[in-house]
Amino acid sequence: MNFEFQNPTRIIFGAGNLSRLGEVAGEYGKKALIVTGGGSVKRSGVFDRAVESLKAAGISFAECSGIEPNPRITSVARGAQTARKEGCDMIVALGGGSVMDASKVISAAALYDGDPWDMILHGQEKVYVPTEALPVITVPTLAATGSETNCGAVITNEETTVKSFIQIPLLYPKVAVVDPELTVSVPKDQTAYGVCDLITHVTESYLNGIDNTPIQDRLAEGVILTAMEWGPKAIADGDDVEARAQIQWAASVALIGWCQVGTNAAYPVHMMEHTVSAYHDITHAAGLSVINPAWMRFAAKTNTAKFVQFAERVFGLSAKSADDLDCALEGIDRFEAFLRSIGCPTRFSELGIDDALFETYAQDTVKIVNDGNGNLPGIPPMSIEDMVEVFRSAL
Ligand code: NZQ
Ligand code: ZN
Repeated sequence: MNFEFQNPTRIIFGAGNLSRLGEVAGEYGKKALIVTGGGSVKRSGVFDRAVESLKAAGISFAECSGIEPNPRITSVARGAQTARKEGCDMIVALGGGSVMDASKVISAAALYDGDPWDMILHGQEKVYVPTEALPVITVPTLAATGSETNCGAVITNEETTVKSFIQIPLLYPKVAVVDPELTVSVPKDQTAYGVCDLITHVTESYLNGIDNTPIQDRLAEGVILTAMEWGPKAIADGDDVEARAQIQWAASVALIGWCQVGTNAAYPVHMMEHTVSAYHDITHAAGLSVINPAWMRFAAKTNTAKFVQFAERVFGLSAKSADDLDCALEGIDRFEAFLRSIGCPTRFSELGIDDALFETYAQDTVKIVNDGNGNLPGIPPMSIEDMVEVFRSAL
């Protein structure tokens, strides 16, 4: 292992902490741009409570509402324009991963005269790397992406049908006000997708990382087991704030960097899924729950020992040897059965997607990230044909 690690986001975690938003924001200026999605925070009353807290601290606000799931670059540009026009000092991201991701890019785009798409990695010759950004305060309303405490953002260009990311330390939120009570209104399906997303964040680094990262492995297994224990409780009873709190924290821990640090892991399942959701505008984790088990069955043939470890430690199976492929595959079957048990799709047909564009997704994926030999990085690296084979096995 050889790494450098810093996550500077201050986390204020616990039910009721939304009321502290104003006090926290007061450290960053006098006017906030509040970024929201399609209206859930208005319907639940969370928006009014956030505004009340800001006002009590003497902070005025402008608004950028209507950020779509799979947020679009045009919405980012609109938000940046509003932030500039209104003279906002900071961004308050009040919503799910889409709102938080859009907010991060808005924070840099507000201080950049060019096209914000220049910042998103999409195979362009020269990526614009921003060096300044407005401070961002995240207030997650959905347990899924971990965007509240990481420096990544995923944005879609609806014109070119490309969904891709930026990930730079500048975009770490200054503060994450994480109040699990805000998630009680999340419907069952989105709750389940969130559980799938957070688990996939750690299976990616667990199964694609270098050898000899025992602490990261145990952390990842802990996140998976916790999500599998508390996720179904949150799905069964949305008002169970304890269950909501456990999956909210699991989502943050899953992608805060602790499970990934030093693993040098690639994210092949995410890279493939982003390309699929660029074309079909499906919920990110609905795509993951289809692609991840299919990818696992493909990858287990190469990285068998790690899949055996997964099967033994997560599902309590007993392998005959360290390279017992049957045991590895049984672990994957159990994992897929868990996803189905919480209501996640595991076949493209359930999403209304056929095989027409499989090759296109694969080609688009390597345009965004490749290992220099035209393959998608991961264990094993995947050729276009490999990706098509994985997609096909999930039809
Ligand atoms: O838009 P509103 O009306 O707010 O409704 C949303 C949306 O319809 C709703 N929702 C959110 N909080 C709610 C709620 N409904 C009721 N009550 C609440 N409290 O849920 C729907 C989905 O919201 P969205 O923000 O899109 O979901 P999620 O948090 O799963 O974010 C998905 C986006 O994040 C990206 C994905 O690709 C996708 O674009 N990702 C970001 C990552 C990151 N920054 O680290 C990593 C992930 O792997 C992922 O790629
Ligand atoms: Zn994800």
